[in-house]
Amino acid sequence: MDTKTTRVSPADIERQLGFCEKIAERLAAQPKEYMAFVDTYGCQQNEADSERIRGYLRAMGYGFTNDENAADVIVINTCAIREHAEDRVLGNVGALVHAKRRHPGQIICLCGCMAQEEHVAEKLRQSYRHVDIVFGPHALWKFPELLYRVLTRRGRVFENTDEPGSIAEGIPVVRQGKVKAWVSIMYGCNNFCTYCIVPYVRGRERSRLPQDVLSEVEALVAEGYKDITLLGQNVNSYGKDLGLETDFADLLEAINAIPGDFLIRFMTSHPRDASQKLFEVMGWCEKIAPVFHLPVQAGNDRVLKAMNRHYDRATYLDKVRRLRQQVPDVVLTSDIIVGFPGETTAEFEETLSLIEEVGYDALFTFIYSPREGTPGAKMPDPLPMSEKKANFQRLVDAQNAISARKHAAYVGKILRCLVDGLCDEEGFALTARTPGNRLVRIAQGEEDLIGTFQEIEITGANTWSLWGRLKRENG
Ligand code: 5AD
Ligand code: SF4
Repeated sequence: MDTKTTRVSPADIERQLGFCEKIAERLAAQPKEYMAFVDTYGCQQNEADSERIRGYLRAMGYGFTNDENAADVIVINTCAIREHAEDRVLGNVGALVHAKRRHPGQIICLCGCMAQEEHVAEKLRQSYRHVDIVFGPHALWKFPELLYRVLTRRGRVFENTDEPGSIAEGIPVVRQGKVKAWVSIMYGCNNFCTYCIVPYVRGRERSRLPQDVLSEVEALVAEGYKDITLLGQNVNSYGKDLGLETDFADLLEAINAIPGDFLIRFMTSHPRDASQKLFEVMGWCEKIAPVFHLPVQAGNDRVLKAMNRHYDRATYLDKVRRLRQQVPDVVLTSDIIVGFPGETTAEFEETLSLIEEVGYDALFTFIYSPREGTPGAKMPDPLPMSEKKANFQRLVDAQNAISARKHAAYVGKILRCLVDGLCDEEGFALTARTPGNRLVRIAQGEEDLIGTFQEIEITGANTWSLWGRLKRENG
């Protein structure tokens, strides 16, 4: 496999911005306002990619809508991680045929991980003829050119060749909020866990240069962003492809040194690569939020090996212990797959005992979904779905009890929280996040507190969230 990193040249991005200008001129010549709808599925990386697609669209002169019938351009940014996600996308894309019938000039684009899967692209080619542009994550930087081609020549465009992957700096961004921001620090994955489609659709690991990441964070801090999440499929291997001295812990340290009152988060970490150095840096860097998402996937060693995870239960537990030594109050979360091919119920019970032993604050739980082209899809999978579902429910119930217990322990504490939005639930005014990112609903408070850190007294809790009041109101 070609592991060469392709860096898109500044001249190439200039050329794309040239296409944006040409489109803007065409749109400006018409009396109406042109609108775009960007619909995002899946992970934060996709959210971050959609912010760049919106950046390009704004440079082309489009306004934004969430109404597919009002949109002149629809972009669906897709996720391929589980079959359920794919089915939802295909159902929704299929239904767009009606919007397009009412609006014949409408252009429908499908991008993201599904676009990179050959069998999906083929299905779109044959059976979803109302989709005009299909492009994979590698081609995102070329979106203006692809759209221009369809606008000027009609016809359909498929741009999903299996390139080694590229890094493009300088694409404009329209961010979704004013408080939290995503910053991709690397793309792709080299791990090939046997259940996972990501390395096949997002290519090999490639890191942005440290100075590019630092300037983006500096600019965000200057704009007033308070909560910055560094993104990558496996942030712990940041920099390994660059051949520089800087590793992920060094990058965090450099970001921590940027002046300003803000929090740094990151995801996702592979347990194999989570290092003692990283735990230590987290321990003393005051801007790094005390929260760690450390996906374990399973608690049984045979299953972990079959998943190609490169760690065993004991090593994982040892890392958790060492992390807690450095960051005693760390909020710990994880991903778990139930029903990996060949996992017996006895093996699954080791996942149950592991979550009790660790005491996670929250879990993201999934039933295994076979992905075409991955080794897992070819493994014998004898356990009936009814038993997988029963195991899944046991896991959810066990975690709910742990989460409720963990949350109850917050009551009575006073925490410095980031107020991050209005609360749409009756009886509450604002939402905030604890340093460890737990959701807090606040009964009273003005909108202008959004984007500020406030002392909040936690007055109540349930399995999923906390509630509290602003300390300053009570003296
Ligand atoms: N089936 C179920 N869950 C999956 N994940 C990744 N691939 C699959 C799959 N084929 C889960 C893993 C990963 C999270 C993002 O999604 O737990 O950490
Ligand atoms: Fe998928 Fe494993 Fe890479 Fe995560 S580390 S993206 S689970 S292959």
